[in-house]
Amino acid sequence: MNKLPPLKFKDGKFKIMVVGDLHEGYIPREKDISKKKTADTMKLLRKAMDELEPDLVVLAGDQGKADNDAQMRAVISRITAPFTAHNVPLALVFGNHDRECELPLERQLELYAQEYNNFYTYDAVPELTGCGNCNLLVKDSNGKNDILNLWFADSNNLCENRNISYYDWLHEDQIEWYKNTAQQIKEEHGGKTIPALWFMHIPVCEEYELLREAKPYEVPDAVKGYGDRSKTFYVLKDHVEGYLGEGPACSEINSGIFDAWKETGDVMGAFFGHDHMNDFAGYYDGILLAQNKTASFQPYTDGCRAGVRLITLDENNIEDIQTRMYHFKQFGLKSESLGPVQRNFTDRQVIKIKAASWILGGAAVSIAAAVAAKKNRKKK
Ligand SMILES: [Fe+2]
Repeated sequence: MNKLPPLKFKDGKFKIMVVGDLHEGYIPREKDISKKKTADTMKLLRKAMDELEPDLVVLAGDQGKADNDAQMRAVISRITAPFTAHNVPLALVFGNHDRECELPLERQLELYAQEYNNFYTYDAVPELTGCGNCNLLVKDSNGKNDILNLWFADSNNLCENRNISYYDWLHEDQIEWYKNTAQQIKEEHGGKTIPALWFMHIPVCEEYELLREAKPYEVPDAVKGYGDRSKTFYVLKDHVEGYLGEGPACSEINSGIFDAWKETGDVMGAFFGHDHMNDFAGYYDGILLAQNKTASFQPYTDGCRAGVRLITLDENNIEDIQTRMYHFKQFGLKSESLGPVQRNFTDRQVIKIKAASWILGGAAVSIAAAVAAKKNRKKK
């Protein structure tokens, strides 16, 4: 790892801002709309940095693509500009779309470290599957004791055999690395388990434990599951907060990492990107699973609800994870890239408006046809 100062709590608190799916590409950007989308994203990130003042920013994957060093440097410098002004520590995990790029992830990691002074992600064991698997210990406000651990894992790309699953999953060697490193950390801390948070791009299958099958009358407000679950409509269970805009697109194969967290006993909460619409959070079997919707206006998104997630931890009650989303709209920001409908309605509301107008339009046409037919009959 590079020689950066250790992360630490400040005045008893440690705040992490999670930024999902920026999808900034290296593009000539002569297209006005693309510039406007980037401008909206930057507006959100600058405002979030000013208002939330995080101690660490985590990019949750699918950051950007470029085909050579110079292009990637330009992308990195663009997406980190709102953080540079605050010199905030920055970490990331890679997503599946970060592979759609001529540059290997290892090179991307080097470029992030060169372009951003305070960049913390490293590739702990280069031989492991994926890139950027690592952990960071966080010290208390006095800078003496390690009281929190942060895990960063690469959820990999697409599955080679699409008959098994569309998305890949965390591989066995990564899970073994986690278990062994957690054990080593425990031994180095006098047998004490250090409470931890986990960051990864593609969510774990257990996210479906936060959902329940929709009742027939709930289907208009429900979402279809993903993959094997695509014949079922889901809504959030009552204890889960936030927004479900699409079926969680996890792997069809359960990697077993959730069970490993339970066995190891350190992970209190896990945070994911990947599904651009979802920002729900809830506990399953004692572990918080929290989604981040995209913070960007470049990919498919949800009107003015692009946002960031803030996690706040208190060193005197570390297991009490406080977290919530902050949306573009809630910050009172005005979008340059969205039209009036997207500015004012969620994506699911737009679908309903379109369906209603289609039904009403159909009904109006039917009524007009019936009236015309009646008139014709009278004429005869
Ligand atoms: Fe994405």
